[in-house]
Amino acid sequence: MTTAKSNVVLHLGQVAVAQRARRLCQQPLTVWLTGLSGAGKSTLAYALEDRLFHAGFLPYVLDGDNIRHGLSSDLGFSEGDRTENIRRVAEAAALMNDAGLIVVTAFISPLRSDRAMARRIIGAAFVEVHVAAPLVICESRDPKGLYRKARRGEIPDFTGISAPYEAPDSADLVVATDKLSIDAACEEVMRVVAARARSGSQT
Ligand code: ADX
Repeated sequence: MTTAKSNVVLHLGQVAVAQRARRLCQQPLTVWLTGLSGAGKSTLAYALEDRLFHAGFLPYVLDGDNIRHGLSSDLGFSEGDRTENIRRVAEAAALMNDAGLIVVTAFISPLRSDRAMARRIIGAAFVEVHVAAPLVICESRDPKGLYRKARRGEIPDFTGISAPYEAPDSADLVVATDKLSIDAACEEVMRVVAARARSGSQT
């Protein structure tokens, strides 16, 4: 198949990432939250966005459930579809980083290989955070009633029940949401992210 890539040449602009970083007083980052459904990724992502915004940064959340209503509305939950979902989100995050923004993503992203792909696409701006809570806890929270449905066999390929979740083995940060409040978890992520977001914005 001839893809668009074969006959398309990249066009480079005159405004450099470093110039945008100086204008916005922040080093662009993608804070990649991974974890089981119900672990608290979305809650943490929006709490972090709020904290970063009020600390003077310009953050933006890409959230799994929201993206699946738009950019990825044609995708399901097979391994191939999840990989494509993560590829699109990583490409979108890379563009937003290029525009100077701090991106916070909240996707289960269950496969190590898919997260490695996201890291390749995003590059040095990628910060991996494992939002960790044991399956029994996530299942007992069951905020959307999906675990109950999955146990009844009504949702195929449900992460943690009938599809795998591969925990990161070298995440930049692990926040245990079964032990920490969302505020405390947010504080931990904020420490790492704010330090990195400030570094380099002056160069
Ligand atoms: S990912 O695996 O491709 O990263 P994503 O984060 O976009 O998943 O979407 C996960 C959300 O979709 C969950 O929070 C849950 O609400 C919903 N969902 C629906 N079906 C499934 C399924 N089979 N496995 C996991 N989550 C599902």
